[in-house]
Amino acid sequence: MESRAVGSAGMETLLVDRLREGLTLRRMPQPSAAVIFGATGDLARNRLIPDLYNLGRKGLLPGSFAVVAFARRPFTSETFREQVREAVRESPEIRYDATTWENFAARIHYIQSDYTDPQGYARLGALLADLDGRLGLGGNRLFYLATPPSAYEAIIRHLAEAGLAGHGRGRGGTTGWKRIIIEKPFGSDLETSRALNAKVHEVFEEGEIYRIDHYLGKETVQNLMIFRFANTILEPIWTRQYVDHVQITVAESGGIGGRGGYYEEAGVVRDILQNHLLQLLTLVAMEPPAAIEADAVRNEKVKILHAIRPLAPGEVERLTVRGQYGRGVVEGREVPGYRQEERVAPDSVTPTYVAVRFEIDNWRWAGVPFYLRSGKRLAKRVTEIAIQFKLPPLVLFQQAGVGAMQPNMLALNIQPDEGIALRFAAKVPGQATRIRPVNMKFDYGTSFGTEEPTAYERLLLDAMIGDRTLFARHDEVEKAWALVMPILEVWAAHPPTDFPNYEAGTWGPPAARSLIERDGRRWRRL
Ligand code: BG6
Repeated sequence: MESRAVGSAGMETLLVDRLREGLTLRRMPQPSAAVIFGATGDLARNRLIPDLYNLGRKGLLPGSFAVVAFARRPFTSETFREQVREAVRESPEIRYDATTWENFAARIHYIQSDYTDPQGYARLGALLADLDGRLGLGGNRLFYLATPPSAYEAIIRHLAEAGLAGHGRGRGGTTGWKRIIIEKPFGSDLETSRALNAKVHEVFEEGEIYRIDHYLGKETVQNLMIFRFANTILEPIWTRQYVDHVQITVAESGGIGGRGGYYEEAGVVRDILQNHLLQLLTLVAMEPPAAIEADAVRNEKVKILHAIRPLAPGEVERLTVRGQYGRGVVEGREVPGYRQEERVAPDSVTPTYVAVRFEIDNWRWAGVPFYLRSGKRLAKRVTEIAIQFKLPPLVLFQQAGVGAMQPNMLALNIQPDEGIALRFAAKVPGQATRIRPVNMKFDYGTSFGTEEPTAYERLLLDAMIGDRTLFARHDEVEKAWALVMPILEVWAAHPPTDFPNYEAGTWGPPAARSLIERDGRRWRRL
């Protein structure tokens, strides 16, 4: 920005405002190296590296920056760069620009190594020391675990043994910050997540650990906090006095792709309910935090997780529904059933659908059910939070033909058509009194014509800056596991006999309807 003297006081103010705006909007990380373990996997190839490139394209990476890709497959830095260039070019969300790419690609270095080979970590240490010296990275390092979870412990231990991270172990002789991003699933149950937390804590301080849930990086999910806490009209009605119930849906039309091996172990409870769905629930239900700052926000989220009434084993059958898709037609295309997918057992009992009814025992939400559902190969890809309000206390319009009264509904559409809609009753024009529900809509895309960052762009940048607000704390992850444990245990103890129990391309097993309809309510038609 030009620093010439500014003519009038008015213009000076304008300049200061612009600067302030620039400072708050353009958050610039310090020089650093991002070390990606599992760099040849789908996540790194299709998301992390393209998103880092995109941050660079937008001028959001520091001038001194390096990416170290660490994985087992035999690539050189050159062949790896070529491979990820293709991923960037293919990405529908990212604009490829040859010159920007060349600049970015020159910062990528590849290390081929097994995750358990000390030699690999010695080479990593030497490369990082060299990059620190040449580029002035100041020893700042962001480690990213994008490997299968089975490799996490070995990587963390070897980082410490090689002196690249760890409390007071010299950390490669450097003074800069060391942070680690850990992908979900964080453990596979309560016990393993505790054990993993303990292992990570042996090497990293809690303040250096970034447990990622990419849903929290989605613009519309962050907008949920703005919507609730930057407006006054909602707060008074965001309670049991006005809200009848809440529905949270993460519906996917896609199947499991090539991830049969992972999904067979995980299933929908570990893949979506324990993390994405419960995260959305906490953001809808939490109290206003004292500040939008990592621990203040996470304290409130943890309080909600504590207030969710745990399901007693005897209630699991009544309050949950599980399902697995069979063959069917999705978006006009015939698709195989789950049991016919690659690397899935022909008699697999892994659930691909879950619906659950939770209650929150606190003053704000007592008596308001939260219905959560998620499934693969459903009719449509849509993530939505719907707050349904109560009917007016008196029905004043009861003449014949007036039309059915429908309660107000606030729908927060997270994806794909990001926006917010409020349903309310309106008079149909004419002499007669007729009522029809209509929608007042806000559409994210058309309202702000700007390029949205992807969830991973946002979260990578936050981690480089050191902002943990949108990452999960250890107690949050453990509490979320504790809440899903009764479901995992009861389902495992009583294997289903009716799988597959929903056809691909439908809205899930019929029992999911009963779960909500026996309370006199219905799932939203999405
Ligand atoms: C991931 C799950 O965390 O989220 C996938 O492992 C799922 O199974 C994905 O498909 C959904 O993410 P999004 O951003 O496409 O809604």
